[in-house]
Amino acid sequence: MKIAVIGSGYVGLTTSACFAEMGNTVISVDKDENKIEMLQAGKVPIYEPGLEDMILRNMTAKRLNFTLDTKQAVQDSQIIFIAVGTPPGEDGSADLQYVIAAAEEIASYLNEPKIIVNKSTVPVGTADLVNEKIQEVLNARGVDINYAVVSNPEFLKEGSAIDDFMSPDRVVIGTDNPKAGEIMRTLYEPFCRTNDRILIMGIRSAEMAKYAANSFLATKISFINEISRLCDAYDADIAEVRNGMCSDSRIGYKFIFPGVGYGGSCFPKDIKALINMSRKVGYEPRILTAVEEVNSEQKKVLVEKVKAHFGKNLKGKTFAVWGLAFKPQTDDMREAPSVVIINELIAMGATVKAYDPVAMQEAKKVFGNNNSVTLCADEYETLKDAVAMLLITEWHQFRYPDFERMSKIMQQKVIFDGRNQYNPKAVKEMGFTYYGIGRR
Ligand code: UDX
Repeated sequence: MKIAVIGSGYVGLTTSACFAEMGNTVISVDKDENKIEMLQAGKVPIYEPGLEDMILRNMTAKRLNFTLDTKQAVQDSQIIFIAVGTPPGEDGSADLQYVIAAAEEIASYLNEPKIIVNKSTVPVGTADLVNEKIQEVLNARGVDINYAVVSNPEFLKEGSAIDDFMSPDRVVIGTDNPKAGEIMRTLYEPFCRTNDRILIMGIRSAEMAKYAANSFLATKISFINEISRLCDAYDADIAEVRNGMCSDSRIGYKFIFPGVGYGGSCFPKDIKALINMSRKVGYEPRILTAVEEVNSEQKKVLVEKVKAHFGKNLKGKTFAVWGLAFKPQTDDMREAPSVVIINELIAMGATVKAYDPVAMQEAKKVFGNNNSVTLCADEYETLKDAVAMLLITEWHQFRYPDFERMSKIMQQKVIFDGRNQYNPKAVKEMGFTYYGIGRR
């Protein structure tokens, strides 16, 4: 099939590359000249494992093109995906200006029947707004062209977006147009060979399904984080509690690890947007607001433990921070707990030495001008003069560090393990003072 994808960000690029990989012809469009120039030269502006190779392969095979020309992209395609950003506005609601602008532009170039697909995460009812905008533009043009608006939310995880797209748990397609539904099913069938995971439903249900899924996942995290606080207070061990709890097959072990709180571009934004949607209809969401509040506090739990150990005044003390990205396998630092933690430490007078395996460019943007933060070349360099190490992001290379080497470098042997990666007993035996999240 011939596909256009409007927006060459993280979702747009993954979508473009994966559809091309499956044999479709894809034109990926963006307004940002620098970005398109980079992509045309085969350079991918974001870090996502496997993405650059896939893009290059499909560009060489001439199945994937990058352009600034929306008109050509729209007119040459049967299906047009809108994958532009929906950043949170001041009140937390999703800002739809880019989605609506894309709809308007698509409508101004529409020359024959096509399917227009909303891939961006948008509040329930947005497909109707897109529909209205397209109709308005077509009316103004004085033309009558058949088109269908479909909602097809993405469920991609940063760091495994390619795998998630190529073998999805499910594909949600929201449409009230049976013909459009069948075309979308044909497009996605090759990705769902082993299972019928293509779920066709009402447009508003599809839009809601995305928010419900992300909010539920965030709820699991805040729930286990809250239990970890109680474990700390009652001297129970969250690792044991987790096993005792998650072995119930109705609960399960996945996505219920305590830590320093969730971050990233999706959970914080989507929950805020759902809270906002909820308040708009006069319903005060109690669970969702609690999930958010618990998470904001959780980002400071490690700092509380630092205070309890070293006191409130950290002047003259250096802390080593391992991991800056909001999770491993990405360079994304949006809403990252590391930023909150480092800023809190600095506010108490500390200096920080930090390292992340891939997020150092991003870190420069956040901390480049901050004299209290030194960005180091590797994790061991951060330890020089450090009174403690804080593990924030559980990159593989941090999981089994050389503790002996650490002992020799650090000024004081204290570990604050924000992701419960180390065995408390083993590190204590090596002479470290250990603090985890809800660990005994
Ligand atoms: C998420 C959703 O998983 C995805 O389906 C959606 O499309 C976009 O949002 P992503 O933001 O890439 O994906 O990250 P994810 O892997 O879900 O992790 C989110 C955050 O939760 C991270 O900060 C992570 O460290 C944290 N987390 C995750 C925990 O603290 N504990 C867990 O058990 C799992």
